Amino acid sequence: MTEVTQPVADEHEEILDGLRGKPKQISPKFFYDERGSQLFDAICEQPEYYPTRTELGIMEDNLDEMADLIGPDVSLIEYGSGSSTKTRLLLDRLEQQAAYVPVDISREHLVSTAEQLAADYPGIEVLPVCADFTQPFDVPVGSRAAARNVLYFPGSTIGNFAKPAALELMKVMREEAGEDGGLLIGVDLVKPKDILEPAYNDAAGVTADFNLNLLRRLNREHEADFELDSFRHQAVYDEDQDRIEMRLIALDQQTVSIGAETLEFAKDEYIVTEHSHKYRLEQFAEFASKAGFKVREVWTDDEDLFSVQYLEAA
Ligand code: AVI
Repeated sequence: MTEVTQPVADEHEEILDGLRGKPKQISPKFFYDERGSQLFDAICEQPEYYPTRTELGIMEDNLDEMADLIGPDVSLIEYGSGSSTKTRLLLDRLEQQAAYVPVDISREHLVSTAEQLAADYPGIEVLPVCADFTQPFDVPVGSRAAARNVLYFPGSTIGNFAKPAALELMKVMREEAGEDGGLLIGVDLVKPKDILEPAYNDAAGVTADFNLNLLRRLNREHEADFELDSFRHQAVYDEDQDRIEMRLIALDQQTVSIGAETLEFAKDEYIVTEHSHKYRLEQFAEFASKAGFKVREVWTDDEDLFSVQYLEAA
């Protein structure tokens, strides 16, 4: 299977820029090399990490209603498709689907998942795009014309964007969906710290591995010499900003090289590697409306941990 690969901006410069900041930071999109994508799949299986199983339950419980709203003959475009697990529920249920366009930054993961899906769903044209979906990319046109574009953005990945960037992305999605398209989106909800912090500090240490794998990637792909044993993972919930902050904390004072650059770390200084924003329903509705969407339907679980929402052009 040939995927469409979109050029990526200068990653090295982007990484250096973040590491020159105060606090030092790296975009969470760099988590997802092959190993990072596998570790993320393993996070989703951890008992403390409620989002995946809760979202899956919401999908299973409301699939008929979702499929009715989405309608027949659509091109389903998934942003950050990963292993496309939840997508299978939709692919099983949507009527006469024209195409499935998974978009992901992790090439190996994208291609193997797309090949598997194409084999399992011979009636649906699978058109993978390897791209950083935060940058504009061209959506491939399938051989069968679709009635509408429906975007699928599960997992609350929207929460990993700072609010202004999230709004920009939602505006791009609104363009992509057009006047008669839609957006099915997973949005994680504000909840007590004693549920949130364990979800990002699982007892088996998978999230810690996922976080530290970023340093392994910088060593391999960006000529860095981070000692993985000299950093530790931490995730804290900031109740004022309604977000988890993931960090890699230097255990001691140290000097690290990355390409031609030298980075100084004081003891306990950290790199911010991810924010995971949690939303209140009314706040997200307001946010969606700023991007030109109206919320057509919201589905949640019994404990109001997570939501899946269908948005249409306002
Ligand atoms: C992909 N994203 C929505 C996950 C989250 O919950 O913010 C990434 C993640 N980071 C640590 N655990 C999961």
